[in-house]
Amino acid sequence: MKQKKTRVDDLIKVENFIDYNQTLKVEDKTFKKLMFIYSIAIRELETKIGILKDEFKIFYNYDLIDHVNTRIKSAESIIHKMKTRKIQLTYKNMIEDINDIAGIRIVCPLKKDIFSIKNLIEKIPGINVLKEKDYVTHPKKSGYSSYHLIVEVPITLSRQNIYVKAEIQIRTIAMDFWASLEHKVKYKPEEEIGKKASKEWINCAKMINKLDNKMMLLN
Ligand code: GTP
Ligand code: MG
Repeated sequence: MKQKKTRVDDLIKVENFIDYNQTLKVEDKTFKKLMFIYSIAIRELETKIGILKDEFKIFYNYDLIDHVNTRIKSAESIIHKMKTRKIQLTYKNMIEDINDIAGIRIVCPLKKDIFSIKNLIEKIPGINVLKEKDYVTHPKKSGYSSYHLIVEVPITLSRQNIYVKAEIQIRTIAMDFWASLEHKVKYKPEEEIGKKASKEWINCAKMINKLDNKMMLLN
């Protein structure tokens, strides 16, 4: 049987769907349709990563992935981010400039697993890596450590195939413990936290890093 070639368009190039230069309105059907498309990208990624997790367990008796969390960025957060970045509120700008509307977080036991997972994701057919940030080798000033990938995922709808962007964060259980607590008190601050507290968080991040390195040796 002759295989039909699939054509995959960038979400921004999808025709007859929306007027991309239109002002973004959360209550519009267009916004809902777009959020649905992002949710499909998450479902695709979650399935593919879930398969890797199960494959490693069944074939190699190895827990490569501890768990996976997903989230869609809330409408308020999208608008807040665009306003802070002084981006005009249009659908086009939202699709082009906000990379983390679809977000997936992969939490693994050991530091070395992060790089294995990243390499495996890069090999998944169809998934394109657009950007990488290695905060594992080079933690942020805050002490934050994780591996970030901005990818595009092909999704299939009845009338078109499209690429949708998503942010993947890969981190160890220990890094996740630190980041979850720190996020609450610092990353989205209502008020600045003091210098002393800041230093303490950096110290904790260093302890976490030592712990992660030790755990790798023990395993
Ligand atoms: P935004 O922070 O989302 O505007 O993105 P960015 O373009 O600066 O990208 P970056 O990859 O640095 O951060 C993206 C995400 O990583 C954030 O939304 C957080 O989830 C997480 N993150 C980055 N820095 C920190 C940090 O210092 N502490 C914590 N807890 N999380 C962080
Ligand atoms: Mg973010």
